Amino acid sequence: MTAEKAGFDHFMLKEIHEQPKAYRDTMLGRISDDGRSVELPELKMTPEQLKAINRVHIVACGTALHAGLVGKNVIESLVRVPVETDVASEYRYRSPIITPDTLVIVVSQSGETADTLAALREAQRCGARVLAITNVVGSSVAREADDVIITLAGPEIAVASTKAYSSQLIAFFLFGLYWAQTVGSQDEAAIAQVLAAMQALPEQVEKILGQSETIKEVAESISHHSSLFFIGRGVDYAVAMEGSLKLKEISYIHSEAYAAGELKHGTLALIEEGTPVIGLLTQEDLYEKMLSNIKETKARGAHVLGIVNEGHEQEVAKSVDRFFAIPRTLPLLTPALSVIPLQLLSYYASLALGHDVDKPRNLAKSVTVE
Ligand code: G6P
Repeated sequence: MTAEKAGFDHFMLKEIHEQPKAYRDTMLGRISDDGRSVELPELKMTPEQLKAINRVHIVACGTALHAGLVGKNVIESLVRVPVETDVASEYRYRSPIITPDTLVIVVSQSGETADTLAALREAQRCGARVLAITNVVGSSVAREADDVIITLAGPEIAVASTKAYSSQLIAFFLFGLYWAQTVGSQDEAAIAQVLAAMQALPEQVEKILGQSETIKEVAESISHHSSLFFIGRGVDYAVAMEGSLKLKEISYIHSEAYAAGELKHGTLALIEEGTPVIGLLTQEDLYEKMLSNIKETKARGAHVLGIVNEGHEQEVAKSVDRFFAIPRTLPLLTPALSVIPLQLLSYYASLALGHDVDKPRNLAKSVTVE
């Protein structure tokens, strides 16, 4: 078993460290040699069919749903087509409004989650074309979908998903760019710029992994608390949701993710002396707004860890108790970096509490019953 973990104490830590490779493998062969366009020959849908799509539903469960929330940001910003995200167990029972021009994207690491598979079938029954993003070739979801993009994260053993989630983000970036180039919503230079930034991500993840000591210290201090908050705006809010889920899954510490601007509408009442708050500040255009939200929590005694872009260290140090800087990338791509310290945070918190990191209580890797 130790050999399978390649020297790591747990599968989760091994899988966190495999993310640079997972990013490279998922991009491999899907970016043209000149780095200016995306190639997705596996898609059966024609450019004409893609051009006709005017509405998207992204449907998934758990961590895959959180990747879908980032996917919504990606597609809406690159293609300007409206995207709704939905929990698979809700979607199938709420008579979703599906037109012939609706694309349904199901996201599933295993490709076997019962609710996601049922949502896929419901979407097809209503006449939608379904694109699956999955990590398992030959899975039920991969077999039944009309189009499939396989993430090449490799087998994921730990129940808490890490490299599968982040590879799903890479798949969304690729698909969003492919769609943008097909309909012409982004020019070639803009697409080449995003692709260049994507190709820098694996090395940037390696740099983050080399600085995990800071996160370990914060994780040990939060492990003594019974409740904490993750806050962010824009795509940072989607990442906050994933950070919160990860922490709950393996450390059993209660946490909530909040859109930072919503705090004052209720949750601020829960902040007391010493309450840990993890604030994500990677979106430059929302940076000042995030800082003022963080100040609101600090004024009530919160103990704040800020996740910032490199270059903000000195300035953010005045407003937070601890900070962690991630390398700079394009705003849309930041989730592929900012999620890494959050994965490490939950890993080290679980470890500090002596829990079974790879097999948390009450949870299964793949839920194949409703
Ligand atoms: C289970 C796992 C989660 C996962 C979810 C969806 O609940 O514990 O980690 O995110 O299923 O799984 P899928 O295979 O569809 O991505």
